[in-house]
Amino acid sequence: MIRRDRTWSSGAGTVPASPAAPSNPARGTGVPAGVHRGRGGEEKFGETDRSDAWWLKPLLQALGLLVLIGYANYAAILGPAHYQYVEGGRHYLSPFYSPYLKPAWLPTWISPALLILIFPLGFRTTCYYYRKAYYRSFFADPIACAVGEPRATGYRGETKFPFILQNVHRYFLYAAIVILMILWYDVFLAARFLTPEGHHRFGIGGGTLALLASTTFLTLYTLSCHSLRHLIGGQIDCFSCAVAGGPRHKTWSVVSLLNQHHMGWAWWSLFAVCFADFYVRMCSMGFIHDLVFFPFSLFNNAGGIGL
Ligand code: FES
Repeated sequence: MIRRDRTWSSGAGTVPASPAAPSNPARGTGVPAGVHRGRGGEEKFGETDRSDAWWLKPLLQALGLLVLIGYANYAAILGPAHYQYVEGGRHYLSPFYSPYLKPAWLPTWISPALLILIFPLGFRTTCYYYRKAYYRSFFADPIACAVGEPRATGYRGETKFPFILQNVHRYFLYAAIVILMILWYDVFLAARFLTPEGHHRFGIGGGTLALLASTTFLTLYTLSCHSLRHLIGGQIDCFSCAVAGGPRHKTWSVVSLLNQHHMGWAWWSLFAVCFADFYVRMCSMGFIHDLVFFPFSLFNNAGGIGL
């Protein structure tokens, strides 16, 4: 049965409110933060007319985040002994530990990864997509569109502490871009093999591919960032009137295209970075033998393509 007093719906299916429905003129959407959350707040928590499996996505997101972030924490905090694998000249460095910094003042019980992880972690935690995901999956606030919320008043969104700190996302973006360049250098080192004669040559091993996939997905995730899109062209009304408007418009168009799939890049990059660490860790612990797909000797008689 369709309730005729609903005002939550957006798009073509919006049902206008019944004149008798709102008894409080302040109620509805668009009221100041902390006053009232709209009609969703009038329902019991979880109550809805939706007949689809609206709970499935928050549930899957919660499980995915628990597994992948749980692994990342294990690798970064408890697993500093196997952060890299060096064999035959190639160097596989776990992305959680890059750039690897271990100053003398760092106590031995603190993992070096913690000096670096603050930046990628801050970047992901403040990401617009992840914010939506963990607000829904872990805080249930809001839990889903057109579903009754846990509280009717007191919601301040990101206008007050602590969530106002989400606005630092842009600064984490700058740090993420720097780290990304370092990760590409790690891919270069992972593709650098040593010949028996002591020359460095190009080659591809399992770790090279794992690090390449991880860094590629991280690049797509970073380049599809909403803040980056805004920085490039989001704040101007007229590209042809702006300085370097043509190149900016082209760049903005590419970033906009990537931005449409930001959620996908967010998940693929998180999975790929965990997998790259897992692969390096398993090689380092001796549980798997690194596969070499294209040994340098295949490339030319002199021992490969020089790097
Ligand atoms: Fe997701 Fe910037 S919005 S990384």
